[in-house]
Amino acid sequence: MKFDTAAIHIGQEPDRETGAVIPPVYLTSTFAQLEPGQTHGYDYTRSGNPAFDRLGATLAHLEQAKHATVFGSGMAAVTAVISTLSAGDHVLAEENIYGCTYRIYDQVFKKFGVTIGYLDFSDPANLAEIEQQKPALVWIESPTNPLLKIIDIEAVATACHAAGTELLVDNTFASPYFQNPLALGADLSLSSTTKYINGHSDCLGGVVCTNSNEWDEKMVFAQKAIGLNPSPFDCWLISRGLKTLSLRMEKHAANALTVATYLERLDCTETVRYPFLPSHPQHALARKQMRGGSGIVTALFDLPFEQVLKLISNLKLFSLAESLGGIESLICHPASMTHASIPKAEREAVGITDGLVRFSVGIEDADDLIEDIQRSLDAL
Ligand SMILES: Cc1ncc(COP(=O)(O)O)c(C=O)c1O
Repeated sequence: MKFDTAAIHIGQEPDRETGAVIPPVYLTSTFAQLEPGQTHGYDYTRSGNPAFDRLGATLAHLEQAKHATVFGSGMAAVTAVISTLSAGDHVLAEENIYGCTYRIYDQVFKKFGVTIGYLDFSDPANLAEIEQQKPALVWIESPTNPLLKIIDIEAVATACHAAGTELLVDNTFASPYFQNPLALGADLSLSSTTKYINGHSDCLGGVVCTNSNEWDEKMVFAQKAIGLNPSPFDCWLISRGLKTLSLRMEKHAANALTVATYLERLDCTETVRYPFLPSHPQHALARKQMRGGSGIVTALFDLPFEQVLKLISNLKLFSLAESLGGIESLICHPASMTHASIPKAEREAVGITDGLVRFSVGIEDADDLIEDIQRSLDAL
């Protein structure tokens, strides 16, 4: 089944009992048992609910995975994976990972003896470190948040497997429509379903997809044992959003390319990053491993800090907000918002400086979006 058909039909068959074309949501915490231990397949929503299975089935198919476990947020999915590590385990991660992933390693799991080291995974010379350090897990994002670095997933997966370790790719920014990390050799593909997969900025969710039965068992265990489960209603919403993923992603990508091209021509931008702009340093790699550039654009403005803040606060269509991947356009200042949890020196060393602005380009009319930015610039 092709992507568009699977997004609508897999896991979303009409209700067997009533014929309801849209499967119902079971808003229940517990399920009656026929006799002790004999259930209809579910006993308690923390360890399973039909809405989890339906969403998981769709996501597994779209990510080209055997298994998908859904969680209450992207960070719950991150927690599930890290919770499988033991004291003394070392993780090697891309130096430009999401701020809260950095923070959970640094402020939560470090206390339990899990250590983490950072590398620039976009530099192929650094891949030799995997063999040298033999980490328990390698953790990357591609494109990265917010710098949109593209990492060669296939090359990192090959280096990981040669060293006897495994690779997790955070696929939040690309979505399964534009990139399938497991097909490129990754062992785990994690997403915050809060973003493109749901696409409507009305609930939180996360997912871990894998072809490994052992990883699947660990994820299902973490979901119930740590209480990382989502709410059935949120899964129902995410399943609804997921049905239009391809349409939304096509429009996000077209609008983002238009906005990036416009920003690149401005005198006040020093650099503009968008994976499908020919000027992107890993443009060829992006085209090789992604089917589209997705909807995020970052621009480094050559303006004083106060003017950058004015520019982003005066926009009318781009709301100043954390998050990304919804139908509406958002703008964010990573240094003071999403990545504020990373110490300033470390943040700046990887390129998250005060002039950097992240645009989550929505699916409005691109002309209106450009007019909005131009109006705000004119007012400076
Ligand atoms: C790349 C990436 N991974 C994980 C997360 C965490 O997801 P959530 O906010 O759903 O917990 C985010 C959130 O912005 C993200 O951008």
